Amino acid sequence: MTRILVTGGAGYVGSVSVEALLAAGHEVAVLDDATTGHPAAVPEGARFHEGTYTDQAYVAGLLADERIEAILHCAARSLVGESGRDPAKYYRDNVAGGVALLEAARTSGVGRIVFSSTAAVYGVPDATPIPEDAVLRPINPYGETKRTFEAALRWYGAAYGFRSVTLRYFNVGGATEALGEDHDPETHLIPAMLAAAEGRTALTVFGDDYPTPDGTCIRDYIHVADLADAHLRGLEATTPGDPRTDEPLICNLGTAGGFSVREVLAAGERVVGRPIPYTLGDRRAGDPPILVASNDRARTVLGWEANRPGLDEIVGSAWAWRQRHPDGYPD
Ligand code: UFG
Repeated sequence: MTRILVTGGAGYVGSVSVEALLAAGHEVAVLDDATTGHPAAVPEGARFHEGTYTDQAYVAGLLADERIEAILHCAARSLVGESGRDPAKYYRDNVAGGVALLEAARTSGVGRIVFSSTAAVYGVPDATPIPEDAVLRPINPYGETKRTFEAALRWYGAAYGFRSVTLRYFNVGGATEALGEDHDPETHLIPAMLAAAEGRTALTVFGDDYPTPDGTCIRDYIHVADLADAHLRGLEATTPGDPRTDEPLICNLGTAGGFSVREVLAAGERVVGRPIPYTLGDRRAGDPPILVASNDRARTVLGWEANRPGLDEIVGSAWAWRQRHPDGYPD
């Protein structure tokens, strides 16, 4: 049993990770400012603290009060488009705020961190599947600020002995029985498509003139429960003495396979059992044509497998969750 602080534990990935940590017998405190997350998403059994990870003194107090041993840092600003319009928000929260969290950890003697990073650190890759040692050339402030925090973790490791695992997420989707995706605004393809199937919002497919077989972008979709499982394994790898984190460990989280936007739409239509209306629009700025992960390292070093790689299962679980929660979370 480890006492863990999960920042962003009221968010989509954070809450599902909290659920997995609790099920594995860990003790969990959640820190979330509830700006994009939902207090109602914090699983029962975790202690919820409404506040911000960017306040060093407050976090230091929380780490002491909760006798925290490890941090899962999921909280962040994470909208690619917004990051281009308002980079200040991303540098302030993801970089300056992230360093405040690291400082609180350092001064409190908490040296174990699992960090939520992103495929956006790669930018437009030279080759796919993308290995972790590919060059990092982010094409938006969101990816750049995540890359910057990754680098801070590396130097904190070298100087202060931090043990860290950085998980670079590809395209996360799906839901567990209790927890799903509820964002406002919603920018991700799967929930946007399902909202269109419900007749709530119109769906636009962003471009069909990419250099891919059907002209739409290809992404590597991973089930959120598989992602949560990788966090558990990452956390274990930060145990003092575990040689896997003598150096910072960085792992992609994807299935090593990809689906085009049109293939996702076809899966959506199979799941909901009727055509999903959409219009074809222009390309969205900052969308690389193909992003597919090499996941060899996560498999060999963390012993992780994507157990639910099927697109229909990812979309199907998201749809089932929406049926059970037609208006999302109550708050
Ligand atoms: N798409 C549409 N219409 C929509 C929404 C998305 O056609 O309404 C397309 C996008 O153009 C893209 C694909 O569906 O080709 C997937 O888009 P998402 O917004 O669901 O996901 P992204 O691939 O843009 O984003 C993901 C992560 C980000 C990360 C990024 C790296 O969610 O955190 O990959 O580029 F930064």
